[in-house]
Amino acid sequence: MIVPNKTATGNQHPSGDERFKKIDNQLRRLKYEKDALLEILNSAQELFGYLSEDLLIYIAKQLHVPLSRVYGVATFYHMFTFEPLGEHTCIICTGTACHVKGANRIIEAISDKFSISAGETTPDGLFSLTIARCLGSCGLAPVVVLDGQVRGKETPETVTRRAWEIVAFSKDKQAEGS
Ligand code: FES
Repeated sequence: MIVPNKTATGNQHPSGDERFKKIDNQLRRLKYEKDALLEILNSAQELFGYLSEDLLIYIAKQLHVPLSRVYGVATFYHMFTFEPLGEHTCIICTGTACHVKGANRIIEAISDKFSISAGETTPDGLFSLTIARCLGSCGLAPVVVLDGQVRGKETPETVTRRAWEIVAFSKDKQAEGS
């Protein structure tokens, strides 16, 4: 269904935030199709880092779909987060190939080391652990994305060591600045 321009542009986000304008542009490009919901949520998370309630309400209004449906889709997929992420992020792929190659052991190791579960951020805001479905590099399974860098054939030891080092480095920098 194509929403007339008047309706589409009459509901711009009051903040004037450029990121909402980017979402509006994408909505226009996708002709406000309700089936575009997943794609819009993906873009929204890329732009904002996480899906706030305000953002979900905005998307629901723009697509003319019930908020419950937007929540339903967003919570079904593990790749979406609803809290701001930490300074450092670790995404562990749990797709089939990575699962078979031990992704769960990596999740357990990171969870133990940082005392957080998947989808959580450490209380100091320095480290977030998230999980994703297939990241498209199955030949490298198990795959981990640490601070945006895709790394393959990882082990619980290599991931925890590297993650611990980058967080320790940030802590040192914080201590120097205080
Ligand atoms: S299953 Fe992990 S990259 Fe495909």
